[in-house]
Amino acid sequence: MTKKKQKLNQKETPFISSIRGYVKKGIVPFHTPGHIQGRGISKSFADLFNNPLLYDLAEVEHPSSHHDYEVARREAEKLLADLYQVERSFFLINGTTEGLHALLIAFFSDKGKKKTVLLPRNSHRSIVDGLILTGAKPIWVYPEIDTQFGLATVCKTSNWNKPRHIDGAFHLYPNYYGLCQNLEGQVIEGVFNLVDEAHGPHLKFSERLPKTALDFDITASVQSAHKILPALTQSSWLHVKNKKDVLAIERALGLVESTSPNFLLWASLDGARAQEANNPGRWDKALDRVLHLRDELKKIPEVSVFEPDGNHPEIFSYDPFKLVVSSSKVGLNGFEFRDELRKRGIMPELAEANFVLFIITPSHTDQDLELLKWACKDIVGNRKQRELSTQAFFYPNLKAHLTPRQAFFAENKRVALQEARGLISAEMIVPYPPGIPLIMPGEEITKEVVELTQYYRDLGTKLRGLEDQNAEYIRVVF
Ligand SMILES: Cc1ncc(COP(=O)(O)O)c(C=O)c1O
Repeated sequence: MTKKKQKLNQKETPFISSIRGYVKKGIVPFHTPGHIQGRGISKSFADLFNNPLLYDLAEVEHPSSHHDYEVARREAEKLLADLYQVERSFFLINGTTEGLHALLIAFFSDKGKKKTVLLPRNSHRSIVDGLILTGAKPIWVYPEIDTQFGLATVCKTSNWNKPRHIDGAFHLYPNYYGLCQNLEGQVIEGVFNLVDEAHGPHLKFSERLPKTALDFDITASVQSAHKILPALTQSSWLHVKNKKDVLAIERALGLVESTSPNFLLWASLDGARAQEANNPGRWDKALDRVLHLRDELKKIPEVSVFEPDGNHPEIFSYDPFKLVVSSSKVGLNGFEFRDELRKRGIMPELAEANFVLFIITPSHTDQDLELLKWACKDIVGNRKQRELSTQAFFYPNLKAHLTPRQAFFAENKRVALQEARGLISAEMIVPYPPGIPLIMPGEEITKEVVELTQYYRDLGTKLRGLEDQNAEYIRVVF
C-alpha cells in the first residue's frame, strides 16, 4: 500500500500562534474568564502555575489515602456547599453546559413518557442541546424586550398559558446582561425549578447585588464560575438545595462528565472558592468603583448605559458588573463600536446590533476603568451624528411541529435558506454571542427567520448551529 503524502506544513501550530498573537497586542479584557488573564487568580492556585504541567496529573493512585484526589475533591466540594449554604455542590469541568445537561437528564428524560418543561425563549443553546439529548418537550415563555437597546430583559413565568401540564421549569437568572426577575413569584410550585445562573456566581458575595437564585425555593442552580470569578475557562459548579434531589443529579453528572477530569480545572475552582470565602469585602469595594464608572459614562451625552427604569417593571434587580453601553446616538452599531474599542486597546464581552457588553470584576484596576471611560468618550467625541438603521429586536414566535430531539434525528436534507419557508428546521440558528437560538429544531421556518438570519449575517454576527457556517443553507426535515 502506498503511503499518503502530507500536504501541509506540520511545523505550523496555528492555534498556538493565534493565541500568542492576540495576547501580544496587550488588549485589556472586559470579558470572560473572570480571572482577567491571570490578574485575579488566587495565591494558592497561582503557585501551581509556576509550573502548571507538574500538576496536570491523571487519576493516579495517591500514596496517602487522605490526600486521594477523589477524597480531596469531595472535601473541596463540601467547602463550596458550605460557602453557598446548600446541601451539595459539584465541580464541573465542561462549563455550565455540563450542569444544565445533567439537570435535564436527571429530571426531564423521556422514560417512556415525554416530559414537558417550561423554558425562557431566550435560553442559551446549551439548554436546547439538552432538550435534544433528553427528548423533553419545551413550552416557551417569551421575555420582555427593551426596544431602544434591542435586548431581551427577563421572562415572567406568569406569562405562561396555564393550565398545561408541566414537569418542571428552567429559569434564566440573571440573564447575560445581569437583569433579574423576582424569582419569588416565578418559581412554580410542585415541580422541579432549575436555574441557569451561569452569570451569577458572584451574587452571593455582596448584599448590594441581586439575591442569588439559591435564596429562593428552587431545586438546583448551575453557575459558570469561570465567567466572572477567578477560575479557568470551563470551570463551573452546580448547587443542589435539598438532599432528596442529590442522587438523581449525581447519577446524571456521571453520564456527562469526562472520565479524565483536568485537575487544573478542579484546582482553579478550589482556589476561586477560597479566594471569595476569605475576602468578604472584595465585591462590595469593586461595586463602588463600578457605580462610579457608570455615573461617569452617563455624563457622556452620546453614550447610553442600560439601567432598568420605570419602563421595565418586570426587572426586579440588576447586576452593575454587567455594563451594557450603546453608542447608537452617533450612529455606531454594536459591532462598529466594538471594533473602535479594540483599536483603543479594549475588548468587550460581546457586541450586538445596538450595544456592547463589558464584564467588570474586582480584578480590574482603576486604570482599566479609566481606559474604558476614555475610549468611550474618544470614540463618540470624534464622530458626527449619523442615522443608524437597525431592525426591531424580537424572538419570532414559531410553530413547533416536532420536539427538538425528533427534528434533530429525523431524515433531513439541505436546502437554500431563502427557499426554506414553510419547512421544518432540523437545525438551530444561533447568533453568537449571546448564543440564543432564533429557531429551534422542529420549528417551522418563516419569512421572519430568513430575514433575521440575513440581518445578523450582514451585521457580521457569527451564526452557529448550522452545518453551513455561512447560513446560506439549512437542514430541514423531510
Ligand atoms: C445564559 C448562559 N447559560 C449557559 C451558558 C453555557 O455556559 P458555559 O460556557 O459555562 O458552558 C452560557 C454561556 O455563555 C450562557 O450565557
